[in-house]
Amino acid sequence: MKDSEIASAFEAYAATFPAEEMNILKLEHTRRVVANAKAIMAGEAFPDRLRGLGETAAWLHDLGRFRQYGQYRTFSDRVSVNHALLSCGEALRLGWLDDRPAPERNAILRAIECHNLRDLPPHLPPDELALAHLVRDADKLDIYTVLDHAIETDYLPSHPDVYWGLPLDGPPSPKVVASLERGDSVDYADIQSFADFVFIQLAWCNGGLYYAASRRLALERGEVDIRRRYLHSLLPAHGAVIDRCCDIATAALAR
Ligand SMILES: [Fe+2]
Repeated sequence: MKDSEIASAFEAYAATFPAEEMNILKLEHTRRVVANAKAIMAGEAFPDRLRGLGETAAWLHDLGRFRQYGQYRTFSDRVSVNHALLSCGEALRLGWLDDRPAPERNAILRAIECHNLRDLPPHLPPDELALAHLVRDADKLDIYTVLDHAIETDYLPSHPDVYWGLPLDGPPSPKVVASLERGDSVDYADIQSFADFVFIQLAWCNGGLYYAASRRLALERGEVDIRRRYLHSLLPAHGAVIDRCCDIATAALAR
């Protein structure tokens, strides 16, 4: 299937699943990830030969989410299946990548496979690396957007599942703050509160968004400041540490 045919194939595929809230969320997420990927590629002067592939990888990165939810009624990979691998399997089962040269197929599959890993495997070929970073950045940018919307609509107090059931007004954990201050990614084992959950996202600003265009988009969208304001309102006694972490993230985005 050509890159130009993937969008309508994806939309038709998604429409074969029940039009329930969780499926619609993933459909809309995918559309926004594609839009993010296009914006990143435009900002990065991506090579022409990779643009179509980048868009295709973005369309397919969460393809397996619909079957995952249909079968297990959850998006938690921990208690179901690795949805990135399920997405690769589904793209292959549908035969959408069959008529491509192997290097193109591999680059698309690699980007799907790696989009939810904490770190990329070492020594990926350049095209696979470029697409893997593209989808990871585009996905993270939409994770920002989803939380922005939840903050804006005051959705969070009644939906702790969004932040893994953590206490919404718990204090930031010193270990998480220390990781952020060192410029490291946050160890998920140290997460104890919603503030820590937000600090994972702030840590992406510092090394977790690969492309300069992705960092620029995060800065333009005010992602750090949205989180700063919300954390200040939740945790007025922790304003200094919130500001310190947010300042680090802003400085990283502006580099
Ligand atoms: Fe995903």
